[in-house]
Amino acid sequence: MSEKHITSSETAGRANGFENPGLEPHRPRMSDTDPRAAKRAEMQVVGLLVVSIVGAIGGVVGFFLFPAGESLGTLRLGNTALGLGLGLGLLGIGLAAVHWAKSLMNDTEQVEARHELASDERTRAAAVAGLEAGIKDANIARRPLLKGALASALALAPLPFVLPLIGNLTPDWDISRFARTAWRNKPAGSAGRRLATDPGDVPIRAADVTIGSVFHVIPHELGELEGEDEFLNEKAKAVVLLVRMDPADLNISPGREDWSYHGIVAYSKVCTHVGCPVALYEQNTKHLLCPCHQSTFDLANEARVIFGPAKRPLPQLPISVDDEGYLIATSDFHEPVGPSYWERLK
Ligand code: FES
Repeated sequence: MSEKHITSSETAGRANGFENPGLEPHRPRMSDTDPRAAKRAEMQVVGLLVVSIVGAIGGVVGFFLFPAGESLGTLRLGNTALGLGLGLGLLGIGLAAVHWAKSLMNDTEQVEARHELASDERTRAAAVAGLEAGIKDANIARRPLLKGALASALALAPLPFVLPLIGNLTPDWDISRFARTAWRNKPAGSAGRRLATDPGDVPIRAADVTIGSVFHVIPHELGELEGEDEFLNEKAKAVVLLVRMDPADLNISPGREDWSYHGIVAYSKVCTHVGCPVALYEQNTKHLLCPCHQSTFDLANEARVIFGPAKRPLPQLPISVDDEGYLIATSDFHEPVGPSYWERLK
């Protein structure tokens, strides 16, 4: 059946002035000539579709079996199940469609006639003549001043569009604003700004932070400090996660010995990947997970990155306590908070 079709296509092609001297006789597929091969191919397509169905159902079951909100473990399992289910669901359909098309759909070949892409000689000559006539009419060859001015104008006109694009890619931004946060502002006469709950703005006593507890923290009285306009900007940079662990579990490098207080540590909540709030803390492993792209930071090891796309640890906020036992920040962060991008600009 196929050879007959090819013959007619060739004829049609030649009628349109198109010839394919390399056209070979069409070879029938196994499934065209052997009914058992066709049946086998059909069952393979059905099998691939079943893989897709099982994958999709498995993904949905996994999603409900491992609810995201319970722990990091269930979050990972739920995400893995969803990803595998979605992957198998799409892969099965894709492979089935390809296999179906290649082995079971009607096997016909079409030859499409195509005219030559280049214009004919007469059209090209007319275009060149028109261009030359335009140049001659403009009298530009006899006016070098005009020619120079036009060339300069054409060369300079795109600059207002291009320069800002280039400028925004160069490292000349004032990044110091990312390196400074509201923690640097100590109330007069105090050793540092108090750490306060977010929300609530209630100062936190070290004694209230039990092992394993987690506090979302902002600088105390940040609203009064920065004013309403700047409040949200400053809050976004200064947010901190406070946790307490057994001091024996903390690995502290030289120079940071007085940055924590009896196992209480404070780290920026702004992910060093692209800045999402990092807030999923798993007490057993002491890992902190960013929900956006799964970067995982080890709080027992100075928030080192142990998984994911983030490239540097979360900046640590040095803390201590004041005379009344409230936690205070003894200085600002020692490096810019947020995406590593800012750090590379330094
Ligand atoms: S923003 Fe945190 S991993 Fe991407």
